[in-house]
Amino acid sequence: MTIDYSERIPNNVNLADDRRLQRALEAWQPGFLQWWTEMGPENFQGCDVYLRTATSTDAQGWATFGYVKMPDYRWGIFLAEPEPDRRIAFGEHKGEPVWREVPGQHRGVLRRLIVTQGDTEPASVEQQRHLGMTCPSLYDLRNLFQVNVEEGRHLWAMVYLLHAYFGRDGREEADALLRRRSGNADHPRILGAFNEPTPDWLSYFMFTHFTDRDGKYQLASLAESGFDPLARTCRFMLTEEAHHLFVGESGVSRVISRTCQLMKEHGTEVVSEYGGIDLAIIQKYINFHYSVSLDLFGSELSTNAANYFSAGLKGRFKETDRDDDHLLTRSSYALLKPADGVVVQSEQPALLALNETLRDSYIADCERALARWNKIIRAAAIGIELKLPHRGFRRSIGEFAGVSLTPDGQVITEEEWQRRKSDWLPTPAEREFVASLMKPVTAPGQFAGWIAPPVRGINHQALDFEYVSRLPADAN
Ligand SMILES: [Fe+2]
Ligand SMILES: [Fe+2]
Repeated sequence: MTIDYSERIPNNVNLADDRRLQRALEAWQPGFLQWWTEMGPENFQGCDVYLRTATSTDAQGWATFGYVKMPDYRWGIFLAEPEPDRRIAFGEHKGEPVWREVPGQHRGVLRRLIVTQGDTEPASVEQQRHLGMTCPSLYDLRNLFQVNVEEGRHLWAMVYLLHAYFGRDGREEADALLRRRSGNADHPRILGAFNEPTPDWLSYFMFTHFTDRDGKYQLASLAESGFDPLARTCRFMLTEEAHHLFVGESGVSRVISRTCQLMKEHGTEVVSEYGGIDLAIIQKYINFHYSVSLDLFGSELSTNAANYFSAGLKGRFKETDRDDDHLLTRSSYALLKPADGVVVQSEQPALLALNETLRDSYIADCERALARWNKIIRAAAIGIELKLPHRGFRRSIGEFAGVSLTPDGQVITEEEWQRRKSDWLPTPAEREFVASLMKPVTAPGQFAGWIAPPVRGINHQALDFEYVSRLPADAN
């Protein structure tokens, strides 16, 4: 399905046939552009950036690449192809045809799900807006901006649903999405992790690896929704999301590679004096970002999650590939939770444990990526292994909230936690050290000393390709 770029709002939903909706979205557009100008990448709005733009929603060849100034990026509304005769795959309506309109009794809940997802998209752009000034290379700068414009497009994706299917309430929510600001005391973003700053590029790579990956799992479970427009919207967002996860995982990989190289060269684990980031610091950043991201899945036991599932609104990861009854009314789940100073297993109704089930899928994915990072360290013949902390480590939501755990899952006292937390989490001095490495490198083909170059360029371009040109004078 090709996308019509001759219209003010590019789309593949025949927007021109629905004048009312088209006018409503065209009225929202200037507010979006104003938000982008105020809150998008600071200082780089006039640059030419080698960006991809979606041109069709087919799996093959859906994007074109070319220089674009970010404010001219063609943000639009793209849904994946409809599946003929698609049926609801789970819950009480299992087997019935999917809904093309919002089922009346689930209106409020669906709107909430869409608004919560939608809110994270502009939030991450806001969190990352200062990073351009300290980019480790033009390649990385371009990737940052690609992720930023696509998060902007994800906001469009959710706003389209709000405008098209939720009437006046939806339009009000769409306006509110442009009013909240990450970290703002009066109008914060909805979820905690999206109000934390992204102060440096190591944090950025960790964020795109761990926190965008939460996004992948939320989108994948909404892609199963019985509300078909939401499912199709999320399916196309997932194709864009894959690049964000690549930026995160490969970014961390390259930092690890460079650290290993410095370790070998200088025969020491402490590479900070040679301008690298010690594996011990990388481990602490992993502990921090992984635990923040685990909280985003919500409480282990959740009647809301059960209701979303039973109502056919939000499925599990790869729902249709699962080999069970897709009702879960009679299944149980072995939940890990703290009790009397240890972590125990407790049998719980599977329906109530759906947040935890989604968290399991996420954890398995993080484990696979971690194994790839450890492979780099092993290949350098270095006997250190990075680890993911226990799922109960430093949690502030759910069963483990208020309970102190070591990274390997021992319950400890609050005093011991206070005494030892600097062994596990980045200290202010370590954060400062990482920040001190963040000096911009903007000559084509050059990379900062704390990160290895990538294996290959973007869209078959060379590593010394000018991925961003016409930089502001003070960025060189
Ligand atoms: Fe997104
Ligand atoms: Fe993303």
